Amino acid sequence: MKKLIALALTAAMALSLAACSTTGAGGASSAPAASTSMASSTATMGGGKTVGIAMPTQSSQRWIQDGSNLKSQLEALGYTVDLQYAEDDVQAQVSQIENMITSGADCLVVASIDSQALVNVLAQAKDNGIPVVAYDRLLMDTDAVSYYATFDNFGVGVEIAKYVEAKMDLANGAGPYNIEFFAGSPDDNNAHLFNDGVFSVLQKYLDNGQLVCQSGQTDFEQTAILRWSQETAQKRMEDLLAGYYSQGQDLDIALSMFDGFSYGIAAALEGAGYKVGEQWPIITGQDAELMACKNIMSGKQSQTIYKDTRVLAEKCVGMVQAVLEGGEPEINDSETYNNNVKVVPSYLCTPVSVDESNLKELLVDSGYYTAEDLGM
Ligand code: BGC
Repeated sequence: MKKLIALALTAAMALSLAACSTTGAGGASSAPAASTSMASSTATMGGGKTVGIAMPTQSSQRWIQDGSNLKSQLEALGYTVDLQYAEDDVQAQVSQIENMITSGADCLVVASIDSQALVNVLAQAKDNGIPVVAYDRLLMDTDAVSYYATFDNFGVGVEIAKYVEAKMDLANGAGPYNIEFFAGSPDDNNAHLFNDGVFSVLQKYLDNGQLVCQSGQTDFEQTAILRWSQETAQKRMEDLLAGYYSQGQDLDIALSMFDGFSYGIAAALEGAGYKVGEQWPIITGQDAELMACKNIMSGKQSQTIYKDTRVLAEKCVGMVQAVLEGGEPEINDSETYNNNVKVVPSYLCTPVSVDESNLKELLVDSGYYTAEDLGM
């Protein structure tokens, strides 16, 4: 009898996994079935265990997708999920994690706002024997983290910079072009890696004068935007336009690290009288948000980085299964992510640069968005 119930459960789960694989990224999870790395049948059974998921904010589309992809993939495996968003309020995230610990979570998946602020609460998780998986953003300065699922963050910066290099024909000596930088949040370890990736490609063009930063603001401390705020990015663009581009200088490139920044940058340009198609700079981005994709189709934004959050969730789920049921998750990097206490075994997914030339192929043909979503 027990065997029968187990079989029925397994079949039901297989069905619900199959069902969620038909939904695009805007809804729940798509394509990759959740348990590629864990083969045993007990490992695919959540056994009533609870996974607490702490996400940073719902103000940007990607985290909503990440949360729902994780939730549906974990639930399909029989786990109970407690999914919380902290709306970029550091203290709220600490409280949410505290609550997950006291209400008996068996495992935590954390995409931090300010990982420094989580050191104590993560120590508390460890004391309670609750394993922690870092999601997309590394949890710094703690030994409480078991695994890390992310993208190749340095590679994100490289991809964005390579887009600029190719678009502006820099490798063939073109220029000079004016560029301004909009880097990520200083409390997010990813932001530092993104920035390092960008400058690994573009520094030589700043050095030889093919790229000119009129404001002179190229250091991360000067270009970083706290909490990835669209408003701050807009204000920064407004200030730069007023301070350095009001005497006839053209801004050629706004190197934006995040689609949210790109919306703010575009709003500032529009506010200053710039028009798409006339003197409109190249604006990069990251996350392939729906609005960014529409803006790419209309020429308002030039590029973004597609991060398939379905795959990221799948890798993370494999890690959750490993810490809860035993076994080894899929790891492809055991060197890069030193959080100052330990090197955290990681899986790095691949970021892909998107512009108008490959948008349909990458985002629609893969089922990430539908043609209708994009108004095609
Ligand atoms: C993520 C990016 C995202 C940014 C802002 C980073 O940690 O890796 O994909 O654009 O946070 O939410």
